[in-house]
Amino acid sequence: MLEAVERKIEQFIDDLDDKEVRRLYAKLPVGKRLRAKLIVKIAGERLSVIKTAAVVEMIHAASLLHDDVIDDADTRRAKPSLNALYGNKTAIMLGDILYSKGFLELNNISSDVAKRISNAVTQLSLGELKDVSLSKTFNTDTSVYMEMIYQKTASLIEASAGAAALLAGKPKEPFMIYGRNLGLAFQMIDDLLDITSDSQTLGKPALHDFAEGKTTLPYIYLYEALDETGRERLKNLHAKVLSKEEQRWIMTQMQTHQILMKCYAQARELIEEAVELMNRLGEDALSEIAMEMIDREF
Ligand code: IPE
Ligand code: IPE
Ligand code: MG
Ligand code: MG
Ligand code: MG
Repeated sequence: MLEAVERKIEQFIDDLDDKEVRRLYAKLPVGKRLRAKLIVKIAGERLSVIKTAAVVEMIHAASLLHDDVIDDADTRRAKPSLNALYGNKTAIMLGDILYSKGFLELNNISSDVAKRISNAVTQLSLGELKDVSLSKTFNTDTSVYMEMIYQKTASLIEASAGAAALLAGKPKEPFMIYGRNLGLAFQMIDDLLDITSDSQTLGKPALHDFAEGKTTLPYIYLYEALDETGRERLKNLHAKVLSKEEQRWIMTQMQTHQILMKCYAQARELIEEAVELMNRLGEDALSEIAMEMIDREF
């Protein structure tokens, strides 16, 4: 089903007619293609849909190239990240090329689709900016966290679902709510996996967020659950490379206060709402995507 999307991405890269871009792009392993899957499941396999899915995956790849520079991450999709291989400059430039080619191709789809997707990219970039400025201190505000993950992750998934509904002539509202909830839960699970999983399973660095200063939802809830002394200790470990002993202390506290279960339940609630919405519309494939997403391991 996604074969046509893969071919379209290859064609977009070939259009650029540049040997170096071809060589660099070949270094990027293929990801889960969640966004493309969502678009095709909503809207079928007409050319305009395939193009939209290809553009969204190129834009997503660009955002990851920049994100790995921002987060100083040396692995991505189980391989060395492009910044690890060739340095930050090359990763940023390839990101720019993928973004701008994506925007160019959006013009050949429809102006409504183009507006939705490009506006989501502005939101994504604003979200990344907020993520970084929040990481300078220990953020303890859950609503600020939710707003930031909406911008950096959910906005593009919401826009993808909205654009697909538009192309399919389906009602936009329920699909956008579905995309929004899926996107929020997706980032919440990503933030949980950073804590519960290992680098090999994830294909990207594990236990990296807190060292980068990111107080994701589990850290906010842990802070709320701790007494004064515990809070002081947690704050002292923020934005540092931790020893095994310090990591163990955090994990033990997470377990004692049942933090991970609490975060998982919150993500699950968002997914259940999305699944119910799709069940009512008879969109079984989309319900399935949502369920798979919550139970994923990477
Ligand atoms: C990673 O997205 C970035 C986040 C929004 C958490 P994905 O997990 O969809 O990345 P790939 O495309 O499958 O590698
Ligand atoms: C999501 O945040 C990044 C984007 C939306 C581009 P993360 O920084 O948590 O993503 P990963 O964990 O590196 O994939
Ligand atoms: Mg990152
Ligand atoms: Mg990041
Ligand atoms: Mg992450």
